[in-house]
Amino acid sequence: MATLPTVAVYGLGIIGSRCADQLAKKGYTVRTWNRTPKPRKDSHPDPATTAQNADFHSFYLKDGIALREVFNQLRGELKPTHTILNHSTVDLKSTQWLAAQCAEIGCQFLDIPFTGSREAAAQAALVYYAGGDSEVLEKARPLLEATSKEIKHLGPVGSATIIKIATNLISASTVQALAEGLAITTAHGIAPELFTEAVASNASGSVLASMKLPTMAAGDYDTHFSMENMHKDSKFALQLAESKNLDTPGIRVTSEAMGNQCKKGHAHLDFSALFKAYPEQ
Ligand SMILES: NC(=O)c1ccc[n+]([C@@H]2O[C@H](COP(=O)([O-])OP(=O)(O)OC[C@H]3O[C@@H](n4cnc5c(N)ncnc54)[C@H](OP(=O)(O)O)[C@@H]3O)[C@@H](O)[C@H]2O)c1
Repeated sequence: MATLPTVAVYGLGIIGSRCADQLAKKGYTVRTWNRTPKPRKDSHPDPATTAQNADFHSFYLKDGIALREVFNQLRGELKPTHTILNHSTVDLKSTQWLAAQCAEIGCQFLDIPFTGSREAAAQAALVYYAGGDSEVLEKARPLLEATSKEIKHLGPVGSATIIKIATNLISASTVQALAEGLAITTAHGIAPELFTEAVASNASGSVLASMKLPTMAAGDYDTHFSMENMHKDSKFALQLAESKNLDTPGIRVTSEAMGNQCKKGHAHLDFSALFKAYPEQ
């Protein structure tokens, strides 16, 4: 049997930690690094050490700032045979920056964010959105399949970043709308279960609505996707809109609402804590 490649995983937050576990479970040699040290046998003290002898480099970091900082620390270890997989949701400029860095080194790069949250990561059921060359995607496919249930090739580098940000705009706006609907119905004495049932039978119903309405109604904000991460993605959406002179008032208002919740100390709660804006919460 051919030996599986070695994978370096940078960022052991909600998603990276679970993906590293899945890769190890499937027989990959995994080398990990996290800014705040984690008690794992496969952890290394810094990004450069982690990068040594790794064929694939998978990033599950917060944003473009983290990505650039970490990449600059391991850059010297990269070789043309290496493949860089950025799974972090970053701004478009950071994706373009990373693509240019990889081109300079001569290594391969995929812009490959994902959808699916904490439980999907735990079950190796993420959906990857890929931007980049088909050849690079085919080379990385077996590795990507170890943590996902689907891989969608969406076009060149940058296309996956833009689509991921636009889908998060929809998720954030949807949860803000769910919070408003739940606040109005509850204030008028309607049981949350009835509202949830009605939404499920309505064209506005969705997987997201069925996941978030019951937990919002119960005041359960256990983090699947944090308020601060959704807030940063809303800012990326506003940047993308502004760069094409588009006015997007819906996400602007939702972004402000998420910023307010972060300021109130709710940055690490699930982004469905948008419902906390209403007095009885
Ligand atoms: N959770 C989801 O449902 C979901 C879904 C789709 C996409 N995403 C995206 O996937 C990425 C990871 O998500 P997550 O939920 O795993 O996030 P998370 O739990 O917030 O983890 C973020 C990771 O980034 C690291 N980090 C932050 N700033 C850093 C810096 N300046 N230098 C080095 N490391 C830094 C953190 O390290 P520390 O532990 O030291 O803070 C942590 O390992 C994010 O871009 C997120 O938007 C998440």
